[in-house]
Amino acid sequence: MNFIKIERQDRVVTVTLHRPEVLNALSSGLLAELVEALRPLDRDPGTGCFVITGSERAFAAGADIKEMEPKTSVEMFAEDYFAGWDAFAALRTPKIAAVSGYALGGGCELAMMCDIILAGESATFGQPEIKLGVIPGIGGTQRLTKLVGKAKAMDLILTGRTMSAQEAERAGLVSRVVPDDRLTAEAAAIAATVASYGKPAAMAAREAVERALEVGLREGLLFERRSFHALFATEDQSEGMAAFREKRAPRFTGR
Ligand code: CAA
Repeated sequence: MNFIKIERQDRVVTVTLHRPEVLNALSSGLLAELVEALRPLDRDPGTGCFVITGSERAFAAGADIKEMEPKTSVEMFAEDYFAGWDAFAALRTPKIAAVSGYALGGGCELAMMCDIILAGESATFGQPEIKLGVIPGIGGTQRLTKLVGKAKAMDLILTGRTMSAQEAERAGLVSRVVPDDRLTAEAAAIAATVASYGKPAAMAAREAVERALEVGLREGLLFERRSFHALFATEDQSEGMAAFREKRAPRFTGR
């Protein structure tokens, strides 16, 4: 692999974006590697959580501007440029973005495709595409608006300004802000916690929360309730509830 590095620690798989010379700009090659590597790991019951991270200086500074620049509108349309990112968003294993430095354009959009965003104090978020004469193209206009509301989304997308980790946390984009030197350890700890639970419950939980962004309350509540019912077919449910009654730690198997 040329553009990403993958490490496994028990049930946690950490993906480090690695194009340091271009601040981890998200090229088609990087996307292809990412999806090819993560798809089989996603289906592996031994994978309980993904951590996606970059470097200290940049989580990712956006889609690769130099790759996009020469393309015509027809080429972009014919290739359905960026459509491949849907495969990343659709991964069912919980994903944590551990963000340090720039998370701009596609970088911010990549973080928003993850389930939890953990930010180091140095993290900056933004959708500066307007400065390039374009608009966000990997979900920024939609996800950012759902996550932080119209006021903040319009402000960021129309001015192209960045926001700090603290502002992003206040706005509801970021789950937690930690000192930069604690980012890796905190992400690993959160991922280990998520991965310690039964995978069917974790998958169902993130799917149900995602639904809240997509459908009305009635449909969302029904989806949640049916998922809840379905989990009573799992051994993890029997084990989790028996362990509670017996006052002991549960042993989840993902079955
Ligand atoms: N694509 C391609 N190359 C990029 C890049 C990107 N998104 N971001 C940075 N780079 C490259 C720079 O061209 C530079 O390469 P050279 O050394 O060959 O010149 C290298 O990375 C280092 O960058 P800078 O010298 O610019 O570093 P800096 O510290 O002065 O500035 C920065 C950092 C403010 C992040 C600046 O690089 C920047 O503004 N980058 C572009 C941010 C941006 O516009 N992102 C949105 C991209 S479009 C998009 O993402 C569309 C979408 O919705 C998916």
